[in-house]
Amino acid sequence: MSDKSYLVNSYNRYPVSFSHGLGSKIFDTNGKEYLDFLSGIAVNSFGHSNAVIREAVDKQLEKVWHASNLFQIEGQEKVAKILCDRAGMSKTFFCNSGTEANEAAIKFARKYGKGKYEIITAAGSFHGRTMGALSATGQEKIWDGFFPVLEGFPHVAYDSIEAMQNAITDKTIAIMVEPIQGENGVVVPSENYLSGLRQLCDENNLLLILDEVQTGIGRTGKLFAYQYYGIVPDMVCFAKGIANGLPLGGVLVNSKVADCVVPGMHGSTFGGNPVALSAAEAVLGLLTDEMLSSVKSSGDKILDKVKALNNPLIKDARGTGLMIGIEIDSSIEVKLIAQELMNMGVVAGTSGNNTLRLLPPFIITDEDIEIFIQAFKQVLDNIAKREIK
Ligand SMILES: Cc1ncc(COP(=O)(O)O)c(C=O)c1O
Repeated sequence: MSDKSYLVNSYNRYPVSFSHGLGSKIFDTNGKEYLDFLSGIAVNSFGHSNAVIREAVDKQLEKVWHASNLFQIEGQEKVAKILCDRAGMSKTFFCNSGTEANEAAIKFARKYGKGKYEIITAAGSFHGRTMGALSATGQEKIWDGFFPVLEGFPHVAYDSIEAMQNAITDKTIAIMVEPIQGENGVVVPSENYLSGLRQLCDENNLLLILDEVQTGIGRTGKLFAYQYYGIVPDMVCFAKGIANGLPLGGVLVNSKVADCVVPGMHGSTFGGNPVALSAAEAVLGLLTDEMLSSVKSSGDKILDKVKALNNPLIKDARGTGLMIGIEIDSSIEVKLIAQELMNMGVVAGTSGNNTLRLLPPFIITDEDIEIFIQAFKQVLDNIAKREIK
């Protein structure tokens, strides 16, 4: 490869390129094997090269790749029905990514609001990088360089019903939050936060929008995280894991919101592409109740084992299902830990407040968990030894 890159410098990348993968394992171009505990940032939930998903995609590739939303797309109707039935929602809008899902939800809320336009979101939230989603995001570093951001997105403390309540004005139409803040370091709110927000929205005639781009499609051990709390939102945004790596996202809406959507108001050339939809149908077929309980129990096992390490460098270990954050003492940069894990053949992520982020595929085995724990223990021990010297 030449020294000059023709890519815009928008990512910090590891000097590693992957050539292929199988299940929970991924291999770089030098033949080194890694245990994938990141899943492409919560995307490849059924691992690499999953045979069932591949077969579904292969079949669709022999039929139609793309025809556009000017026509009926059979796969959209099928996947939308499965999602709506399982989520307790009415209709679906398909797009290609998480940020687009949130853009759609923002537009639907504003249309529904008939002049009311404020959507209250949470400090520390992450909703995406396009201008609407970026403005909804509660992090200054995401706005930096892009002012003016869109008006109408007050940001208030996460996990505080009172803060949300105090921010409601006669222009407010919705509240939008993540059930667990992923990019902010896997921040899990109190048990009654989502039900409290549902009640607040009902009392004030507001829409409750849940950004389940990261928590959704089984990641926490339920199809959507809100299903732990016996509530149903007015809109739920999803993407990431829905097509195991092919670009697909969407918004599920209830009938109240669906009624305000009319042809021409919003759309996408690629959104709800038949090939991505074939993968999504296979993913939803694999996401059985049994699989969801295994996501929850695998996550519990990891958390228990991490806590049992009793290592002073671990400040906290938290999460639900296979969305796990391990907060590292501020004396050690978490990026160093992620790098050393990579050296040892384990791919993990970082996020928020010096937190190691684990988003393993749902198909991990007890052996995979043990490999991670041993590698993590070794990395922490090595760092401690170096610090003492
Ligand atoms: C909660 C949440 N919303 C939105 C997004 C943006 O999704 P995408 O990168 O697919 O645009 C992300 C991505 O990390 C996310 O975690």
